[in-house]
Amino acid sequence: MPDARILKGQTLSFRDDPFRVAPAESIVHESHGAVRIEDGRIAAVGPADRILAEAGDIAVEDHGRSLIMAGFVDCHVHYPQTPIIASYGAQLLDWLNTYTFPAEARFADPAVCRAVAETFLDEILRNGITSAAVYGTVHPQSVDGFFEAAAARGLRMAAGKVCMDRHAPDELTDDATRAYDESKALIERWHGRDRSGYILTPRFAPTSTADQLAALGALWREFPDVLMQTHLSENRDEIAWVKRLFPQARDYLGVYEAFGLIGPGAIFGHGIWLEERERALLRERGAALAHCPTSNLFIGSGLFDMAGLRAGAAPVCVGLGTDVGGGSSFSMFATMKAAYEIAQLGGYSLHPIAAYWLATVGSARTMRLDDRIGNLAPGYEADLVVIDLTSRPVIEQRMRTVEDIGEALFVQLILADDRAIAATYSGGRKVHERAV
Ligand code: GUN
Ligand code: ZN
Repeated sequence: MPDARILKGQTLSFRDDPFRVAPAESIVHESHGAVRIEDGRIAAVGPADRILAEAGDIAVEDHGRSLIMAGFVDCHVHYPQTPIIASYGAQLLDWLNTYTFPAEARFADPAVCRAVAETFLDEILRNGITSAAVYGTVHPQSVDGFFEAAAARGLRMAAGKVCMDRHAPDELTDDATRAYDESKALIERWHGRDRSGYILTPRFAPTSTADQLAALGALWREFPDVLMQTHLSENRDEIAWVKRLFPQARDYLGVYEAFGLIGPGAIFGHGIWLEERERALLRERGAALAHCPTSNLFIGSGLFDMAGLRAGAAPVCVGLGTDVGGGSSFSMFATMKAAYEIAQLGGYSLHPIAAYWLATVGSARTMRLDDRIGNLAPGYEADLVVIDLTSRPVIEQRMRTVEDIGEALFVQLILADDRAIAATYSGGRKVHERAV
């Protein structure tokens, strides 16, 4: 007998890209829906009447009027920066030196790695985030501690050891050979084990020598199905610094291009100040951007051009990242709200359906996982979130005048927080339940 159960509630899935078709046409919404889960995967989604009639005698969890959708996917986050979220008064390069590097130095201690990983995972599950692309620190044990904690909860996670061999404190630097050897050993230990995947993680061009970037480019060619993540064009002082450090490069992305660090499976954090050639190169090479809106506001980096990057027949692959601790929230509602506000400042309205698509399908696609997570569909892994659409009196009152699911989603992304996450499931198992 398979381990089977049915979740009843409103259901939401995506059947198309809301940047390509009218947003309302891109979703399937059942106001009385159900999801049948078997052995950790989604076996069926649809109207509750049909799903229940087909199922026979299996357990039903009734979530009432709550909305069941795919768990959120955070395609850019630094778990070691959990203890320094909400650090005051600095822009990128000062923020790194003042807050980030001292915090990351503590991860030499495996007990710190495991303890912070547990806090981080508790917090993301409380916010309905079921998968993430995660930066460790330079210490391999930061990746071991993270994957051990994630595997104990059965989560699908991708993570990598940060590689830095210059412009960082001595205790946080490796070198080209160590970056290669340690990353390779971690790939061999973790990639494809349980639900873990490895991501090569040069922090960003200024903290790697050409030798280190070349070594990681070579390693990616050896293991092309691992991911690659780094930062790109976040802050104007950073960009000027990259130009000084790599004067032969045509632009910032040209540095990564020169070392073979671009292609499908590359996730570049931020990409705020891109030049035309860089935008075209991202489109052509199938590389992705992680839009991290609360971070871009919090550390004052700039306004991401969602409309421009998603326009056209070959849009750039974009997902949403919390970028904690540069990001100011673990909530995907707060992240979508900030993405909406940044779009408003750019003279463009980000449709709520597009925002939820970015936080699920879009982010899963940046991680090349959109055939298994990020949507409700038969065969997909049962990583789900249950959203209480009336989690507080003010939201309940506002919801009374809501006319369709798009508006309901908008009200949630503006007003809701972790109190709206009634439950989170990973691989069909409940991994978070809101306290009553
Ligand atoms: N650029 C290089 N490192 C970082 C980091 O840790 N956070 C952010 N936001 N940008 C970076
Ligand atoms: Zn980052």
